[in-house]
Amino acid sequence: MTDRELVSMAEEAMSAAYAPYSGFKVGAALAPHNAKGEIRVFTGCNIENASYSPTICAERAAAAEAVKNGFTHFETIAVCGGKDGRIEDFCPPCGVCRQVLCEFGTDDAVLILWDGKKTYRCTFGEMLPLSFRKNKLL
Ligand code: THU
Repeated sequence: MTDRELVSMAEEAMSAAYAPYSGFKVGAALAPHNAKGEIRVFTGCNIENASYSPTICAERAAAAEAVKNGFTHFETIAVCGGKDGRIEDFCPPCGVCRQVLCEFGTDDAVLILWDGKKTYRCTFGEMLPLSFRKNKLL
């Protein structure tokens, strides 16, 4: 799967965003593999809430869907977003989402951002340096 194909899926997911309060719509497309090495794409959008703090980010919505289906090895994720769904700049994952992505992705996993014209690519290790990881606990 190409970066642009994954980005297209993130854009499509963004159109389902429920963001009546911020108006900021985000979409994510995650391509993890399962224990058998099969790869499948899971998408997510942000889902806001009148009580604000229960809001779920697009990346974590996609991550929850993947893990629920046994796809717990995150390889690549594409993220895009913008005010009223207009993608005019990169939309990097928030700190909480970075931590959640790193729970299931090694430092080599890849983050792809899309600003409507070009992609930006980095590793999870670059996305969240000095991350607190499960090897401290397990
Ligand atoms: N948002 C995401 O979906 N992902 C991020 O990583 C950053 C923020 C959403 C949450 C909220 O609905 C809106 O963007 C504005 O913060």
